[in-house]
Amino acid sequence: MTLDQNKIYCGDNSILIENLESEKIDLTVSSPPYDSLRTYNGYTWDYQKLIKELYRVTKIGGTVVWIINDATINGSETGSSFKQALYFIECGFNLHDTMIWRKDTCGMPSSIRYGQCFEYMFIFTKGKIKTFNPIEDRPNKYAGSKVHGTYRDKTGSLHKRSGEWINHVIPELGARFNVWDISTEKSNKTGHPATFPIAIATDHILSWSNPGDIILDPFMGSGTVALACIETGRNYIGFEISSEYIELANSRINKEKNKI
Ligand SMILES: C[S@@+](CC[C@H](N)C(=O)[O-])C[C@H]1O[C@@H](n2cnc3c(N)ncnc32)[C@H](O)[C@@H]1O
Repeated sequence: MTLDQNKIYCGDNSILIENLESEKIDLTVSSPPYDSLRTYNGYTWDYQKLIKELYRVTKIGGTVVWIINDATINGSETGSSFKQALYFIECGFNLHDTMIWRKDTCGMPSSIRYGQCFEYMFIFTKGKIKTFNPIEDRPNKYAGSKVHGTYRDKTGSLHKRSGEWINHVIPELGARFNVWDISTEKSNKTGHPATFPIAIATDHILSWSNPGDIILDPFMGSGTVALACIETGRNYIGFEISSEYIELANSRINKEKNKI
């Protein structure tokens, strides 16, 4: 079976992905089930097989964004996020960055630990990254002032700056840091138990891909990555094991297309 673009396929991702040709995908943006936090009607997934296949289908220089967190079971976080991250490295990916999504809400309050209010956003690349379009929306603390005329090297010695840095004035806005504050506000009204905010998908797609690229989400859920692809002029391929969620995703996609 060959897989068409801009479609969501129903089934187990570790099997469906076998139908994708090697080095086809520019970017994967996905959020797998977090341990047993939600059971999704008892569906399971084979992380080792899926990650191995993600390496095969990713273009050289392509990227995978893996948004994940751990359950706390018998008093301990499971560490599944790290196990998966290390397995990506074992399969050949570079761990390009460990980013954090800081939410404006946290899980159940606890009397023995601080409120859990973030998720990991691991960025993996197959070799040297081919696309990075940094989002520049961070107000610069030193906007309007000139870059220091000198800098210190690793040994502590002072050097004069040269070239483009001479008289460089710091602009109003700089590139974002790697902790993103994104509200969960609108993401819990879709009818799917774990929809992530569209801003998470859109901002990663803008950062790590270009218009016309092919984006994969092997855990498509309610279709958030597909919506973000439509908004940003990218193509998507999605896998989702639940036909009920595919229906939900397709209805969100049709509404989005009618807006355009
Ligand atoms: C965390 S949710 C993804 C939510 C999605 N990012 C969104 O915004 O709606 C994980 C999804 O993976 C699906 N899933 C679980 N195991 C799967 C498998 N083996 N193959 C494909 N999809 C699977 C679940 O049904 C669930 O919808």
